[in-house]
Formats: sequence, C-alpha cells, structure tokens
Amino acid sequence: MHAETTASKSCMGAAIEKWMKTVEKLVVLACAAFAAMSSFLLCSLCFRFWEAVAGGVLVGGEKSQSWGVQEALKGEEDRGGGGADGCDLFDGKWVHDESYPLYESKNCAFIDEGFRCAENGRPDRLYTQWRWQPARCGLPRFDAKLMLERLRNRRLVFAGDSIGRNQWESLLCMLSSAASANEDSVYEVNGEPITKHSGFLVFRFRDYNCTVEYYRAPYLVLRSRPPPDAPSPVKSVLRLDVMDWKSARWRDADVLVVNTGHWWSHEKTIGSGCYFEEGGKVELQMSVESAYERSMKTFLDWIEKEINTSRTQVVFRTYSPAHSSKGDGKSGGKCHSERLPDFRPSPHSLSETWSHFLNPFTEQQLYMQNSTRSALREIDVLNVTEMTAQRKDGHQSLYHVGPRSDARRRHKEDCSHWCLPGVPDAWNQLLYALFLRREFKARVRPSQVELYHFK
Ligand SMILES: *[C@@H]1O[C@H](CO)[C@@H](O)[C@H](O)[C@H]1NC(C)=O
Ligand SMILES: *[C@@H]1O[C@H](CO)[C@@H](O)[C@H](O)[C@H]1NC(C)=O
Ligand SMILES: *[C@@H]1O[C@H](CO)[C@@H](O)[C@H](O)[C@H]1NC(C)=O
Ligand SMILES: *[C@@H]1O[C@H](CO)[C@@H](O)[C@H](O)[C@H]1NC(C)=O
Repeated sequence: MHAETTASKSCMGAAIEKWMKTVEKLVVLACAAFAAMSSFLLCSLCFRFWEAVAGGVLVGGEKSQSWGVQEALKGEEDRGGGGADGCDLFDGKWVHDESYPLYESKNCAFIDEGFRCAENGRPDRLYTQWRWQPARCGLPRFDAKLMLERLRNRRLVFAGDSIGRNQWESLLCMLSSAASANEDSVYEVNGEPITKHSGFLVFRFRDYNCTVEYYRAPYLVLRSRPPPDAPSPVKSVLRLDVMDWKSARWRDADVLVVNTGHWWSHEKTIGSGCYFEEGGKVELQMSVESAYERSMKTFLDWIEKEINTSRTQVVFRTYSPAHSSKGDGKSGGKCHSERLPDFRPSPHSLSETWSHFLNPFTEQQLYMQNSTRSALREIDVLNVTEMTAQRKDGHQSLYHVGPRSDARRRHKEDCSHWCLPGVPDAWNQLLYALFLRREFKARVRPSQVELYHFK
C-alpha cells in the first residue's frame, strides 16, 4: 500500500504543475492505473502469504507450533535436514487423527487396483488415520487448490520405481479432490489407462493446464544390452555413467521428484545376470553398493550439467523400507497381521539391510568430485526413510489383489508397496511443505518486492 501513496504523490506533483495539458492528463491516468495494478499485485501476494500462514496455524493442534511462510523461509539453510534453529520436518511422530484419510480410494480413479487395499478386502482402517507430526513445528494443511494454482502451466514429474508410482498416484488423488467434478477435467494425455507396466503416464489437470507425470526408471541410470564382447553370465548391464534415456523428458520439469532403491539388490542385479558397466567396460567384480554410489554420482553430475535449478525444484525421496519377517515379501515375508505403527523411536525400526541407502549422497561423493557439489545444495531431500520404517502396518500385504485371486490363495504378500490412502499421502504432505517453502522463497525475493515499490 506504500506503493500506492508514493505513486499518487509523484503523479499529483506532475499534475499540479501542468494541470491543463491534455498530454499530462493521460500521464495521470496511466500513473493511477499503474498504481492500482501494483497494489492489486501486492495484495494478492499478501493474500497468498496469509493463506499459507493460516494453513499452518489451522492444522497445528494444541501441541505443535504453527508453520507458515516464515518457517519456510527460515528453513532454507538446512534444506529439510536437522540443525539447531531450523525445523527438521522429518523428525517427529505419527499421530492418530480421525479427520484422515484425505480421500477414499473408491472416489479416486487414479489408483492401481493393487493399491486399493480397502476395496480388495482389507478389514481394518486405522492405518489410514495416522498423520505425521514434526517434533518442533507444524505442517501446512494440504491445500489442493493452492497447489494446483501454483502449478498452473507447469509440470510436476515423478521418476523412479513402482514406489515412486505409489506416491504419484497418491498425489493424483490428493490433487484431484480440488479439480472440478467434471469427469474429464483430469485425464491422461495419450488416453492410456493406469496400468502397472506403462513406461510413463502424463495426467493433465485441464483447468490448470498443469501435468503430473510418472516415468518408470527404477535405477535412474540406463539399463541396456551388454556390449558384444561381454562374458557369458552378463545378460544385461546397468550403465552407471549414463542416465536413463527418459531423463530427457524430466529435465525441464518444474518440480522433479526422484527415487530409487528397491532395485539395487543383489537379487535384481547380479543375481539375475544384470552387471554393471562403466566407461564402456563391464565390471564383473563391482558390488551393488558401490554401483549404487556411482549411479548417485551420475545423477548429481546430470543435475549440474542438465538441470536449470533456478527453474526446476529437484526433490530426492529417500528409501522406503520394506517390512517382512524374512526377505522382501516376494520371498515369503509376512506383514498382514500388522495393525499398528512401530512407535519405538529409531534406530529400533531401522534395519541393516538398507542402511546404506540412508545417505545416498555420502562424503565419498564429495571426495570423488574434489569440490563442493553445487547439486547437493540444490536438492531437497524428502527424507522419509526413518518415519516410514515405523509404518509396518501400512503395506498392502495380502490385499494387493481381490479375495478371489490365485495370488491371494497362495498367500503371497506384498510388504514393500503401500495401501492408498496411506503412508505415501504423508510423504506428499511433506512434499507439499517443501514445495511451498521453495515457492514463497523464489517468488518473494527482496529485489522483486522492491519492484512493486517503483524504486
Ligand atoms: C500449458 O503448460 C505448458 C507447460 O506445461 C506450457 O508450455 C504452455 O504454454 C501452457 N499453455 C497455456 C495456454 O498457457
Ligand atoms: C534458468 O531458469 C531461469 C528461471 O526460469 C531463467 O530466468 C534462466 O534464464 C534459465 N537459465 C538458463 C541458462 O536457461
Ligand atoms: C535422513 O534422516 C536420517 C535420520 O535422521 C539421517 O541419519 C540421514 O542422514 C538423513 N539423510 C539425508 C540424506 O538427509
Ligand atoms: C583437489 O583440488 C585441489 C584444489 O583445487 C587440487 O590442488 C588437488 O590437486 C585436487 N586433488 C585431486 C585428487 O584432484
């Protein structure tokens, strides 16, 4: 509102001096219009601020503090991590909340059959009613309309494995609650149905001209045929120094959410004849752990070379733990009797089998590069591993198929993926917090605010 006074004053000065000249009248008009327009811009900015702050306060409950734009701006230094002053969104606990879930699977058309646990006969419901409560701050209430408005004319892309897809479908449901009731207001641009095996799917929210996309890339790097001279056990290779071809389509996303992890197992790589290749050479002796580290280096190099991080917000979602008494569910593990989260604080719930995924960007990365990597400063880490480790109750278990399926009769359980609604909704609420944090920071730089003041 300062803007208005300053602008009107200078306009009036000009008008008094040469009151009668028509040309000057036009200037006065133009000035007034300019001032009105800017105060409108300023006001709508204030309104957005207010909305976000109010959202933070409303959801906080009595025990938590509010979380709004102030927090979003302050937290910038620690990028979602710990730190004495900032708020670590990932340090907290699961709180029972009967106002959850945010949606019902039967009302959302974008969920794979496998994730529809309730419809597949899962009898309990408590697993849908846990919300994540950070220890030292509140989370902004998820506002689908505000998020869609912020995504107008933009692209939000998920790239990764089927658990990335689990999260993507959750977000589609959360967002579509705000889209118009009209059936065709959200649609796949190529008319593809939601099926497990598509390489990619692009959903457009018509009224917002924004797309929410998923690209299957379980390793992020390229899997391909072996070179012609490769020894016989080598059936395929992971080219650790080349990004998946589809990455060309993620590059220009406005928000890019990547994940990897479950496919970096001995069983899925060397155990099935898939070896590692680097610099055109197959490395028969390379361990899965070091192959994973190298792929992370490739990923960071790619961000530095290919991504304009002023435009694209890159979010790395960390490993999503599987739970089963033995193996990974597919090899006979069970989790269907789990009805409650594991409330013991970590590290009880942390398991050795995936500990090397906890810090995908290790010190070693830094030494390999011999410099501080700019990519590391640009990535937002959606550090869900520990919070998710507590949610042994959230998996599909037996309910990844309907009661009449063969798989169900054989009691084959899935203790890796998650029921929807469920755990991935909480990840997306955290993603929303990271998104707002960046939005408000990016849009309200001091230099921009000055512009509104006509300096
Ligand atoms: C719709 O969004 C795309 C980006 O996803 C953009 O390139 C295009 O210009 C937008 N269309 C309109 C009409 O704004
Ligand atoms: C990066 O993106 C910003 C914001 O969209 C844009 O202003 C800038 O020109 C881009 N830089 C390059 C090198 O394309
Ligand atoms: C994620 O959180 C865990 C536990 O707080 C921590 O040990 C780990 O370093 C964090 N990872 C990243 C990448 O920030
Ligand atoms: C690392 O960088 C420093 C300073 O730029 C340089 O002196 C040193 O030789 C580099 N070390 C390696 C191993 O590249």
